[in-house]
Amino acid sequence: MDKKHVHILATGGTIAGMADSPIDLLGYTAGAASIRELLDSIPEINMLAELQTETFCGIASENGSPELWISIAHRAAEVLADPAVDALVVTSGTDTLEEMSYFLDIVLDDSKPVVVVGAMRPFTAYSPDGTVNLHNAVAVATAEESAGKGVLVVMNDTIMTARGVSKADSFRVNTMTGGEFGTLGWVAAGDVHYGGLPLRRSRKDANIDLAAITRPEKVEIFYMAGGADARLMHYMAELGAKGVVLAGFGSGTFSDAVRSEIEKLLQRGVTVVLTSRARSGLVHSSLPGLIEAGDLTPQQARVLLIAALSAGMDREKVKRCFEIY
Ligand code: SIN
Repeated sequence: MDKKHVHILATGGTIAGMADSPIDLLGYTAGAASIRELLDSIPEINMLAELQTETFCGIASENGSPELWISIAHRAAEVLADPAVDALVVTSGTDTLEEMSYFLDIVLDDSKPVVVVGAMRPFTAYSPDGTVNLHNAVAVATAEESAGKGVLVVMNDTIMTARGVSKADSFRVNTMTGGEFGTLGWVAAGDVHYGGLPLRRSRKDANIDLAAITRPEKVEIFYMAGGADARLMHYMAELGAKGVVLAGFGSGTFSDAVRSEIEKLLQRGVTVVLTSRARSGLVHSSLPGLIEAGDLTPQQARVLLIAALSAGMDREKVKRCFEIY
């Protein structure tokens, strides 16, 4: 059987990290190794697919930004539109992987597999996880069942949805978790096994048009804490935020001072979205005008709000996005 054609878009991160010593797992330069060097260290990967590579950027993903996610998405859409390409793999740093991959999930057509992959140990480590992760990501990208499931994230032998994934550990290789609904399967030495389906969103409901997004609207996150100074929300708007995501307590509660600032933000036309700083569960809004983000994390809700506002949506359409995505 003919091998699938997989395009690899490299963006940097620890997966391409280089350190002076193989036991240095923290003091390395992210994004320093080329995608060619990574692939040359795992020649068996060429048995899985015909690979074409492209270095989009070589950054530590802590410098990732909405501008970057938009430009990666536009390039990814071009690659996926090429009839010669069967699937796309994007390499990324893990620090903002969940944000970049969720942005891609919101705006890309998923009729061809799109897989995002990173690593926790640099390429130069004695036991790097990135090479195995990359091999597994290409294996998942070549699997027929990987299409139509939204953007996927593959790390630590696990297949997760971009919708569900979050970074849960600061240095260990099992850092990425699919959470309550995001773990779809396993990939063991290149063998792909699915055990679940993502039901949260179907592509037919997708209504955020990437073509309409050229530059990001500014959205900030206000994190609730006992006695947090609510006036910071005012300054977010003063600095140009068109949206504010509130990371409330528990089911989405907040102090009276924050309530009063939210009311002022809503009056001046800022879109305010409610999430929780708790790690799982839904939120409930006690304030009219506040949009509930369901089970999305604050950083995911920010990504969705950026996408919706940047596509020119009004408040009602933004609200509908939070019901769909
Ligand atoms: C980064 O996000 O670029 C550095 C950290 C990592 O990839 O794990």
